[in-house]
Amino acid sequence: MCGIVGAVAQRNIVSVLLEGLRRLEYRGYDSCGVAVLGEEGPRRARSVARVTDLDEQVRESHLDGITGIAHTRWATHGAPVTDNAHPIFSKDELALVHNGIIENYESLREMLRDKGYTFVSQTDTEVIAHLVHSLYNGDLFATVREAIGQLHGAYAIAVLHKNQPHTVVGARQGSPLVVGIGNGENFLASDALALAGSTERFIFLEEGDVCELSLDGVKISDRDGYDAQREVRQVAAYGGAVELGPYRHFMQKEIFEQPRAITDTIPQADSFDPSIFGDDAQTVFGEIDNLLILACGTSSYAALTAKYWLESIAKIPTQVEIASEYRYRESVPNPKSLVVVVSQSGETADTLAALKHAQSLGHKHTLAVCNVGTSAMVRQTELSFLTHAGREIGVASTKAFTTQLVALFVLAATLAKLRGHLSAGQEADYVKQLRHLPAALNSVLALEPQIIAWSEEFSRKEHALFLGRGLHYPIALEGALKLKEISYIQAEAYPAGELKHGPLALVTEAMPVVTVAPNDALLEKLKSNIQEVRARGGQLYVFADADTKIVNDEGLHVIRMPEHYGLLSPILHVVPLQLLAYHTACARGTDVDKPRNLAKSVTVE
Ligand code: G6P
Repeated sequence: MCGIVGAVAQRNIVSVLLEGLRRLEYRGYDSCGVAVLGEEGPRRARSVARVTDLDEQVRESHLDGITGIAHTRWATHGAPVTDNAHPIFSKDELALVHNGIIENYESLREMLRDKGYTFVSQTDTEVIAHLVHSLYNGDLFATVREAIGQLHGAYAIAVLHKNQPHTVVGARQGSPLVVGIGNGENFLASDALALAGSTERFIFLEEGDVCELSLDGVKISDRDGYDAQREVRQVAAYGGAVELGPYRHFMQKEIFEQPRAITDTIPQADSFDPSIFGDDAQTVFGEIDNLLILACGTSSYAALTAKYWLESIAKIPTQVEIASEYRYRESVPNPKSLVVVVSQSGETADTLAALKHAQSLGHKHTLAVCNVGTSAMVRQTELSFLTHAGREIGVASTKAFTTQLVALFVLAATLAKLRGHLSAGQEADYVKQLRHLPAALNSVLALEPQIIAWSEEFSRKEHALFLGRGLHYPIALEGALKLKEISYIQAEAYPAGELKHGPLALVTEAMPVVTVAPNDALLEKLKSNIQEVRARGGQLYVFADADTKIVNDEGLHVIRMPEHYGLLSPILHVVPLQLLAYHTACARGTDVDKPRNLAKSVTVE
């Protein structure tokens, strides 16, 4: 998704800007660009290829300067062509980069055309550039503050003007923006990660903030235009670039990192203590009688799995909603709800907006399950649980998902205990199973060679069905999502009991049917569903717990999982589905870590 980097320094900052873009590359983008201020005004280079290509252009054109902005773009308005790539110029005097979407860009464009501005791109960004230019009064900071009063939508921007050679101005509303504080130099970025090589001191701007970066300081005003003091936070954890090591792709590396990520995420204590969610958690948990979980994509499947846990262990009614639906739906607020947002990045625009919507409806109890401690979601919720997956580079989420499941299981067990539904014996059992989980995952990862053998066949298919039941239905959904995201094979998931209500019509020899088969209470029902597919000549690919006794037969291909792992079984069963998607995509030769059209962190709605 789009990324912003900006800098004001006493040295040539082009390499800082390009390094920042490189650090944001993994999020997905389709064009990139950089602009620096020279005596004649801004100069720029733009590319519809990768940042390395931009780097070459910069060298060839000797682009250098001490004040600059840069961008990776993920197209929303207008195709990924050079004219639409940022930085966007206005009258060759002002340069601007933008993340987000401006909803009233059409009316603004008409107004600016009437004022004599010519539009050369199809972007909504160009209206911001011309708007700021048209209002410019010698003070870029004040002008930007005035201009954003006319914008509707979500945005983060960085802008520079020919007349202020040592100034970059930024503003945010709905999209993240951070200031990096250096010594005699200052930076701006959509994610602190972009500036990891330059500083460890950050200001996370609040909604509606406008900032001005100069050589000797940073000035910030809040949404009402008043001077604002924001906390400077030391964030050392960003470290250097993540290495691929012996793996072919980051996705493969991240699948194999799951035992470590889960070890780091499991709470240290030998009991379920609410304080892990925050100091006020015990009080908050005592005041709620239901959960509303909001999320997008893979995180929403973690939430769906959690619903089964929360209702069965903690006996607490739980509703899961796709954030982009909830935020625009008329719903009935319940002050006794705990609103939980689940997000790897903590910056997904729809989930953030859904959280705000829930708060605006009067929900005061909120909890974030998130992998980024400094993210907007963690900052805007009352309670939080941080997963410790480490940075996830592959667009298709893997280790973030399984660590979210761990976090949500801990939440279910904690609520069960507080509500009197967890005996001391059960508590000890759950803690033991959590502790053993990394070892169990290692035995599932050892199945990779068998999965590679299946993936050869899958790579020649164009469609696949995934079946699961109960607690493992969301795992089937996640398996199908993984396959479509990275191999581009159309994949759908159904609760196996629904087979006869439609999808059975699709079953032929050409349709592989992947089945998640744990040895749980629904096994006998699932076995009947398997027979329904076999009777129609379908080819079944079953991940069966060792104790199910499901074995290879005609039309029935089986990979034996370890013995059934009880309530935590979904965390084991998703792993072979991740590997199947990964190796199928490799066999098809797709760009696994950066699948077409997708982005890692979706900061526009
Ligand atoms: C994008 C990513 C998915 C992710 C989803 C939600 O679609 O490609 O991998 O599951 O966003 O992201 P979040 O950061 O909120 O978990």
